[in-house]
This record gives sequence, structure tokens and C-alpha cells, in this order.
Amino acid sequence: MQIETIELRNYRLFRDAVLTDLPRLTIVVGANGSGKSTLFDVFAFLKDALTQNVASAVARRGGFNELVSRGQKGPIGITIKFRESSGRLATYQLDIANDRGKVVVHREVLKFRRGRRGQPWHFVDFSRGKGTAITNEAMYGQKGVTAEREERVLADPSVLAIKGLGQFTEFRVVAEFRDLLENWHISDFHISDARSSAEAGYAEHLSMGGENVAQVAQYLYENHPDQFEKVLQAMRRRVPGIDRVEAKPTEDGRLVLRFQDGSFKDPFIARYVSDGTIKMFAYLVLLYDPKPHPLLAVEEPENQLYPELLQELLEEFRGYALRGGQVFASTHSPDFLNGAKLEEIYWLVKKEGFTTVERASDSELLRNLVAEGDLPGALWKQGLFKGVGLR
Ligand SMILES: Nc1ncnc2c1ncn2[C@@H]1O[C@H](COP(=O)(O)OP(=O)(O)OP(=O)(O)O)[C@@H](O)[C@H]1O
Ligand SMILES: [Mg+2]
Repeated sequence: MQIETIELRNYRLFRDAVLTDLPRLTIVVGANGSGKSTLFDVFAFLKDALTQNVASAVARRGGFNELVSRGQKGPIGITIKFRESSGRLATYQLDIANDRGKVVVHREVLKFRRGRRGQPWHFVDFSRGKGTAITNEAMYGQKGVTAEREERVLADPSVLAIKGLGQFTEFRVVAEFRDLLENWHISDFHISDARSSAEAGYAEHLSMGGENVAQVAQYLYENHPDQFEKVLQAMRRRVPGIDRVEAKPTEDGRLVLRFQDGSFKDPFIARYVSDGTIKMFAYLVLLYDPKPHPLLAVEEPENQLYPELLQELLEEFRGYALRGGQVFASTHSPDFLNGAKLEEIYWLVKKEGFTTVERASDSELLRNLVAEGDLPGALWKQGLFKGVGLR
């Protein structure tokens, strides 16, 4: 499954913005305050809206008046177009309004486009708790079959129909979309957390801040030795001097990561290896997860890493994107960008308080320069990404 388009209306500084033709790996650049973190927050918002309801997703972000673009009344809108695994293009649209202090779903639509000509099938079409839902999903796409719908009323106009209607749990397209939203992952490492020895315990997936890296390493080592070997191979390739990494239980029941440097007999424990070593190891543990997240967002992966390593890290992200999960990464690093293809680079430009999105591959100048051998990061540094500020 792949998200192809994201449209935002009145969502903070995205008053009216669209990202189109999204590839499996998307790199987002832009000055401080241009909306990179806000863009990733859209995924978190949808997850909150799905697992709870839109009222609490809005409340967690300071309330409707804080979230809606300054000077606008709303509704706040998010439209996601995605290609589901069978190749069909689906659109999910969510508009949220404020009814005198009560936050409600103003409109929620999930539809399929049928070929180039046919009318789209609206699986769900709801407004303020009332609407229609399809009853013959399995027949979709068959010749001569038309959609059959029934009227439904939700108990709460702030709950999403794709959650509130029990019948949808069995619909594949809804299940896939919900899986994407519920299991997306944001990674924002804090080196100090990843360093500390973890309580011995069990963890299959790396946490957002990376503090359970030793547990996940142990899990991989014991249950997926082939994946663990890939992490080690990548580590040896990328970080000079690292031959072996192990997660070792201590006598008092904690778990310590030990990094073996080929030049010395005794390994270094995580607390004493370099920031970059820990960070690279944590990324590799995240990226060689046997069950990739359907969607992974990574904030500024460049910090602490040696510039030459960044292009290789980008290669690892691309590999993950091709193996399973779609990846979005934000960056301020020209070195990281140097590893990117123009089609992967989206840049955010803030004008008069609101942000628009540009695609690097839409610029003829950039296309020509890259064709002549220039690297995107170098062009960005020279200021050729019009309107993008540099740190
Ligand atoms: N309701 C709103 N309407 C308009 N703009 C808003 C609204 N809420 C927040 N903003 C703007 O969005 C900015 C936050 O943007 P964000 O944190 O996404 O930027 P960023 O690109 O991640 O920056 P950095 O590189 O510093 O991490 C705020 O500084 C503020 O200017
Ligand atoms: Mg940010």
C-alpha cells in the first residue's frame, strides 16, 4: 500500500497545500518553522482520531481554534489518496468542523475510483454522524454490479465511520487503511535514551526515542538471527572498527549492548561508544525490523552522523521503503540530500504565514543540473531550491 497524495486544508500553517505523486521514499526539506513536523503530525492526528475520536485528536493539539489555520473558520480537512495492495486507487477525505464548541466530523468519505471513466464507489459517505455505507464491498469491480448502500447513524458524530461501523472491520480496503494509520511509526532518536542499559525485558519494535534498542537487538538476535546478521553486516560496512555487537544480560537483570572493536580484546559497552555508533545501530535495528511499519516518519536523521554516512543511511531508508514500509524523512542536511533523487525531494516554502509544497523534480533548472552530474544537496546549498531557507 502506498500513499500517493496528501491534501491539507486549514491544518495549522497548511491552509491549502498538496503533496502529489509521493514515491515510496519522500524527503521533506524546508526552513525552521516551515511545517515539516506539522506534516508528520497529520499521521499522528489521524491515528488519534481513529483510536479515539476527532474531538480528542483536536483537543490534544490545543483545541480547534489553535489547530485551524490562523484567520480561518474551517473546516479542517485532510485528504489522503492511496493505492491499496491490489493496485486500486482509494481516496479518504476527512473534514472537521467546530459546531459552537463541539468538534464533529463534517464530512467523511472513502471512495474508490473505478477505471478512468466510471463513477467512483463511495464506501463511506458520512456527515455529522449520519450517512451511507456500502454493503456489497466484495462485489466491487465486477461487471454490471452497482454499489448497494444502507443508511446508518453513528452513536457519536465525532467518531470516524471507518471505526464506528463494525461491518468495516472485514472490508479489506478499510482494514489496510486502518492498519497504516494505527501502525505508522515516528522515529526521533534521543541518543542518551538509547545509551542507557534497558531493563531486561521483551520488545519487538524500536520505540520512538530508541530507549529499548538493547531489548530489540536481543529479540532480533534470538528470533531472527538472519536479520540480526544483516544489521551487523551493515554496521561493519558503515562504521569502521565495529566487528560484533551483542546484547548481554547483567547480573542485576539489565541488558547492556556491547560493541566489539576488532583492535581490542574487550568490547565497549553502549555508554562508552560514540554517538554516531549508537545512532547508526539504532537505525539499523529499526530498518531491519522483520515486520516493517507500513509507514515510517523520521525526523532529521542526520544529527550525530558522519556526513559521508548520510548517503548510505539514505540507501538503507530506501531499501526499507522498497521492502515494506513507506518512508517520510525530514532533513536540514545537504549531505543527506546528496543521496536523494529529485523525485524524492519535496520542499516547503512559507509565504505570509502559510506553506506551499514544491517538488524538486518540477524544476527544469534542477533537472538539467542533476542530469549534468550535480548533486541535489549541493544545489540546495547554493540556493537553487527557490524559497527554501537554509540553517
Ligand atoms: N494554527 C496555525 N496557523 C498558522 N500557522 C501555525 C498554526 N499553528 C502553528 N503554526 C506555525 O507552524 C510552525 C511550526 O512548524 P513546524 O514545527 O512544523 O516546523 P518545522 O519545519 O518542523 O521546523 P523545524 O525545522 O524548526 O523543526 C509554528 O512556528 C507556527 O508558525
Ligand atoms: Mg520540526
